[in-house]
Amino acid sequence: MSKVAVITGASEGLGRVFAQQLAQAGYHTINIARNQARLEELVAELGAQHRYHVADLAQDEGVESCIKLLAESHVDLFVNNAGFSRFGIFREAEIENELKILQVNCHAVLRLSHAFLQQARQGDALINLSSITDMLITPIQPTYCATKSFIASFSRSLWFQERKRGVYVQALLPGITKTQFIERSSDLEGFKLSLLNAISHSPEAVVSASLSAAKRRSGPVVIPGLSNKLIALLLRLLPNKWIVWMLGKVGDLA
Ligand SMILES: NC(=O)c1ccc[n+]([C@@H]2O[C@H](COP(=O)([O-])OP(=O)(O)OC[C@H]3O[C@@H](n4cnc5c(N)ncnc54)[C@H](OP(=O)(O)O)[C@@H]3O)[C@@H](O)[C@H]2O)c1
Repeated sequence: MSKVAVITGASEGLGRVFAQQLAQAGYHTINIARNQARLEELVAELGAQHRYHVADLAQDEGVESCIKLLAESHVDLFVNNAGFSRFGIFREAEIENELKILQVNCHAVLRLSHAFLQQARQGDALINLSSITDMLITPIQPTYCATKSFIASFSRSLWFQERKRGVYVQALLPGITKTQFIERSSDLEGFKLSLLNAISHSPEAVVSASLSAAKRRSGPVVIPGLSNKLIALLLRLLPNKWIVWMLGKVGDLA
């Protein structure tokens, strides 16, 4: 029988590439997001054995509907990928939007990890999308960085708790990746976007690094790409004040 993988945020970017690479590896995928048209396109591309489920993870009903889906039949691999950010000054932000970031990036991840692990058995795996911002705090997105640190810390502990029974948990910490993430999070103009694009990794490379680490049952944290690994190493040597100051300047904050 084919293995089943569930991916949240599968309509775009990294989630879509997870769905494509997992389908290629023989998984039957169930793809979750809000944009039904994009999910229909994805499933048409992947084939009849693949499914989609429309849910808004910023809403309790959306999360509950995914938990129901997890109870229907066994899921071998779960990817908590859906997530978003908002660039800017926190005190000027709409508080409802900041709370939505918490809802999607933390609340949904916590509830869906719990539901997945309750039904998981030996050999299964959970991948949670954190970010290199866990180490590389970027002051232009305070709520987002805090949520990604939550995911990294949470997943490290789960990795330890679950390894005894053979369930693998991974915190994936990508650096800047070529998806719509930054456009969706900010109103940066073309010049800055193309600069960021120039130093970013492809979603295909990020996803294949994550899946091959999951196959090897590697450590709790996966940082894809040599340049990101070097940045992470360098960050361990620099004082925290310098890192936050430098990245605040890069983000154009006074
Ligand atoms: N791109 C980067 O540079 C980067 C770096 C480090 C970490 N990450 C992390 O990687 C993950 C994927 O990001 P990406 O770059 O692929 O971003 P993206 O291209 O903007 O895609 C985000 C996905 O999340 C879904 N999503 C957003 N809000 C949702 C909600 N309320 N309910 C359900 N689904 C929702 C979107 O689908 P709908 O709009 O259809 O709902 C979309 O499929 C995120 O967790 C992000 O934090 C990204």
